Amino acid sequence: MKRYNLAVIGVGAVGREILRCLRQRNFPIGNLKVFARTSRDIQVDKEVFKVETITPESFQGIDIALFAGTEGEKGAGLQWAEAAVNSGAVVVDNGADFRLREDVPLIVPEVNREKISEHKGIIANPNCTTIQMVVSLSQIYKRFGLEQIILTSFQAVSGAGRTACKVLWEETKRIVEENKDLDYLSINKKIKGYQSEVFPSQIVFNVICQIGSFKEDDFTTEEIKTVKETHKIFDDDSIKITSTCVRVPVFTSHSEAIYFRTRKKVSLEEIKEALKESEGVVYEEGPQKFFSPVDCEGKDGVFVSRLRKDPFNENSFWVWSVSDNLRKGAALNAVQIAESLVSLL
Ligand SMILES: NC(=O)c1ccc[n+]([C@@H]2O[C@H](COP(=O)([O-])OP(=O)(O)OC[C@H]3O[C@@H](n4cnc5c(N)ncnc54)[C@H](OP(=O)(O)O)[C@@H]3O)[C@@H](O)[C@H]2O)c1
Repeated sequence: MKRYNLAVIGVGAVGREILRCLRQRNFPIGNLKVFARTSRDIQVDKEVFKVETITPESFQGIDIALFAGTEGEKGAGLQWAEAAVNSGAVVVDNGADFRLREDVPLIVPEVNREKISEHKGIIANPNCTTIQMVVSLSQIYKRFGLEQIILTSFQAVSGAGRTACKVLWEETKRIVEENKDLDYLSINKKIKGYQSEVFPSQIVFNVICQIGSFKEDDFTTEEIKTVKETHKIFDDDSIKITSTCVRVPVFTSHSEAIYFRTRKKVSLEEIKEALKESEGVVYEEGPQKFFSPVDCEGKDGVFVSRLRKDPFNENSFWVWSVSDNLRKGAALNAVQIAESLVSLL
């Protein structure tokens, strides 16, 4: 079997999950290099990986470079992707820097893997919230079209990286410590005079209706991503999409309440059939069976339940979708792209 030289850039929440996915899926690796801003050893499951400081020479001999560094000017993508491509590697980037560029395919293999071959050196992984939504709706879109999507997301803190997980845990311990002599009715849930280093406010015992920064029409960057990236992945910007993205005190796995209206006339049974036959979707039928983040953490699927028909509007439905944001929302999707890529190399 042919083996490929891989580089993983970034060893935060996503980078570590990429290393786990590569091992779990027996990716045909020749040489594996791991890079970040600073060198050290890290352990993922039982394996120790040597992390090297990234340099312009890091990509020599690399076939595929899986980027999981932070975004923006000082982030790994903008700093190093070009060097990787110039060295002959194909870049799969988890960040937002390249997602909307015309020459960069934005890939969710279950939805549009045929576009992978159009890459010019860089392939982008969509935002976690978008990936989970398009996998949930892909088969429905292909069979019946989509006129409108209204999304409310309930997003885990790991979506904001490893430091954000630490923040939730430290806040939790602080509340418990400060209230240990009180009963549950009288505890102080708000940490006085506290400013989070990651979120706009305290996250424990709270929800925050801001993910990213505020942009056009007062939508946040996260909300805008769900619209623009979905249009690009489905290659259809006629779908009316609007969303509210909310951070919740959950460590891992995003939940989404998705309301959608199809273009064609469709029955509840036909939507059920489409969900049962959707690649990547685990569908549970019936009102009592629904998924929660703790059931889905560490698993590969997009878990869809609570399908309901809107009694007031034709061809309109709700579903509840839960998926591990670090796996299908990021690392697993990137590794699946790499798997599809090697089948083309
Ligand atoms: N978390 C999610 O659910 C999720 C989902 C989809 C996409 N993403 C995207 O995936 C990327 C990684 O997210 P994350 O949550 O894993 O972040 P994270 O936990 O903050 O980790 C970031 C990692 O990137 C490394 N890094 C940052 N800038 C770098 C540079 N210029 N050169 C080399 N390495 C650099 C850091 O190196 P040091 O350790 O040396 O500082 C660190 O290891 C982000 O672009 C994020 O938007 C995340």
